[in-house]
Amino acid sequence: SQNIAGDLEEILLTEEQIHGRLAEMARQIETDYAGENVLLVGVLKGAVMVMADLARELNMQVTMDWMAVSSYGSGTTSSGVVRILKDLDSDLTGRKVLIVEDIIDSGLTLSWLIANLKSRGPASVEICALLRKPEAARVDIDVKYLGFDIPNKFVVGYGLDYNEMYRNLRSVGILAPHVYS
Ligand code: PRP
Ligand code: MN
Ligand code: MG
Repeated sequence: SQNIAGDLEEILLTEEQIHGRLAEMARQIETDYAGENVLLVGVLKGAVMVMADLARELNMQVTMDWMAVSSYGSGTTSSGVVRILKDLDSDLTGRKVLIVEDIIDSGLTLSWLIANLKSRGPASVEICALLRKPEAARVDIDVKYLGFDIPNKFVVGYGLDYNEMYRNLRSVGILAPHVYS
């Protein structure tokens, strides 16, 4: 059998740490949105695990919708120009929107997405992200609910991929260089 966890050079966050932090974030969200029906917008595909675990942790009415976006541009660096691959099914008019993301890297994806969703007439748009790489930031993102700041390393697991693989790891870790070199 395979041992995909063995491709990690270091575990940054265990399943327990992730779930513990998501529970704390959920308590904040329940307080801030008491009595409201929040629309959780998950950004495919990375946010699938965060969305699944956060939503089940929330003891409140939520609805869930999904968007898939792709950054245009050359090579490995994100250009900030984003294309919608799958749009929301929901009308955002008057809705309290909470974008759910796995990671803020350069910030370019979210920067574009926030502007896009705000143009659709929602009551509010806020961000919930499990991870952020402060050293990689190219634009400032005002994130209301943040799990962890992490170093500017190539991380996979818990939704985050390398060539579409490793999303199914329960932990978040640094991929060993031998995997991609
Ligand atoms: C990753 C990640 C975030 C985005 C962050 O998604 O899941 O959505 O990049 O990068 P940024 O802050 O530099 O814009 P990706 O485009 O790899 O798609 P995926 O979620 O399907 O893996
Ligand atoms: Mn993503
Ligand atoms: Mg990816």
